[in-house]
Amino acid sequence: MKIKVDLSRSGSGYGYEILIGSDIINPKPKGEITDILNSVGLRGRAFVITSKTVSDLYGSLITHFFENAGINPVTIILPDGENTKSKKYLFHIYDELINGKAERRDFIIAFGGGVVGDLAGFAAATYLRGINFIQMPTTLLADVDSSVGGKTGINHSKGKNLIGAFYQPKVVLIDTGLLKSLDARELANGFAEVIKYGVVLDSKFFSYLENNCDRVLSYDESALAYVIERSCAIKADIVSEDEKEAGIRSVLNFGHSMGHAVEALYNYENIKHGEAISIGMIFATMLSKKIGLCTDETVTRVKNLIEKSGLPVKIPEFTAEQYVNAMKLDKKVSEKQIKFVLIEDIGNYKLKKLDFGFIHDFIFDICTKTVNR
Ligand code: NAD
Ligand code: GLY
Repeated sequence: MKIKVDLSRSGSGYGYEILIGSDIINPKPKGEITDILNSVGLRGRAFVITSKTVSDLYGSLITHFFENAGINPVTIILPDGENTKSKKYLFHIYDELINGKAERRDFIIAFGGGVVGDLAGFAAATYLRGINFIQMPTTLLADVDSSVGGKTGINHSKGKNLIGAFYQPKVVLIDTGLLKSLDARELANGFAEVIKYGVVLDSKFFSYLENNCDRVLSYDESALAYVIERSCAIKADIVSEDEKEAGIRSVLNFGHSMGHAVEALYNYENIKHGEAISIGMIFATMLSKKIGLCTDETVTRVKNLIEKSGLPVKIPEFTAEQYVNAMKLDKKVSEKQIKFVLIEDIGNYKLKKLDFGFIHDFIFDICTKTVNR
């Protein structure tokens, strides 16, 4: 399956393909990989950036993958976890690239989850003022979201993704077979971003998820392939329209204002991105209901699907002040207001600026009343 991200629609004048299959990195006839790499203009040396777990599982497969194309890749292995998306490991990558004498014609392969993808993509965006890179995602979250669309970056101790660049990969290669080794919590974590697409943009897809989430979360190959393809198609369409989030792309941040605050309040530990976004999606839907945009039934449907998927539904017990202060570091704020992605119904979003005072009182309300029980 091939999906095209067509950036000519948003003015950048180029695009790239997302290739989805169940055995992309398995041994292939010589030439097949070379053809893929040549077709996107990649001819130099390859620097594979990956995480410890992925390297242990698939290190030799990925090496073979490139050897088939006549490339002897240099592999840079990083520790697992969100804290790797940091200045420390960014500079570690620069050191390795400099020690390995990486040149402008060489390229980076981000082989891992969203942490590796965001970090390696930012290293590619900034090393020698930009070298080529490929996304080869290995988690569901990275398949359906982070590998597509060119958001790259690192976290700062004061907030998530505060340093970064829009920098697009040359190609995205999604091997759905790699998801077999992902644990159930990580699979559900990625599923949260899948739910997001349904809630804000595609009610038919949301209904499919309501009826098939058990299949997806029990690693059913065809259900997984379908949700990855549909999610990538939705994201490719939005990014093609608005590469740098000047408009419609911001709907993909549904659940993220609260979600990023939750992650920051947990110090990026003990909670996964998709889990925090799940809490954020429920919060945004309740907020939509509060200002009269959607019905109780919509809130219940969103909450039920998230709960059925084994994702968290309760807003953690931090104070309203803590939440508001964390949200103020969001990229979508002005001094007194924050731009929220809300919903009118499943599949219908609405962007609205809301005062922090109002958000504060609403959080105080739901954290002290039964609605959050
Ligand atoms: P992750 O990258 O930390 O991966 C989760 C864990 O799974 C890691 O320990 C990893 O080593 C392991 N793993 C990866 N592939 C595996 C496999 N096939 N089998 C077994 N284990 C495997 O987490 P994630 O959820 O993939 O990504 C989260 C990050 O993505 C966050 O930093 C988030 O901000 C970012 N993100 C970015 C975008 C974007 O548009 N750039 C979008 C959404 C999320
Ligand atoms: N993950 C949201 C975006 O890529 O815009």
